[in-house]
Amino acid sequence: MMTQKSETITYLLGSEAGTLLRYRLFNEVYLPGTKRCLSDFPTNPDMEILEIGCGIGDTACYFAEALVPDGHVTAFDQSPDLIEIANRRAAELDLKNVTFVCAKVQDFPFPSDRYDFAHTRYVLS
Ligand SMILES: C[S@@+](CC[C@H](N)C(=O)[O-])C[C@H]1O[C@@H](n2cnc3c(N)ncnc32)[C@H](O)[C@@H]1O
Repeated sequence: MMTQKSETITYLLGSEAGTLLRYRLFNEVYLPGTKRCLSDFPTNPDMEILEIGCGIGDTACYFAEALVPDGHVTAFDQSPDLIEIANRRAAELDLKNVTFVCAKVQDFPFPSDRYDFAHTRYVLS
């Protein structure tokens, strides 16, 4: 779902702040199913989770708040607008154990042996 435009890659579904409502609705529809899938999720106190293509950060905040309150979540997305929204959301929830990073999957600037669990949902590229 991506088009190559000279040096720039454009995500066709849109990832600027103007698409926020769509992301909110998307999460309203899919978060209950995601929670069901993760209901037997095995956690340990200092678990490190990586979320790939986190969008506005709803699932990352869910991990940080409900699943690994004593662990840590690193979540990244290529869109600076969405990362800003995700950071605001984490601040509203007073979450100190989630870090949002603006990065592309292709660059993957994270140590590959650091995480206990990696999660991604609907990243169509
Ligand atoms: C349909 S949204 C899903 C967002 C989130 N995973 C969720 O389930 O709410 C897809 C997300 O993947 C991100 N994305 C697409 N290609 C990416 C890439 N190559 N590197 C990082 N993020 C990417 C987009 O910016 C967008 O936020």
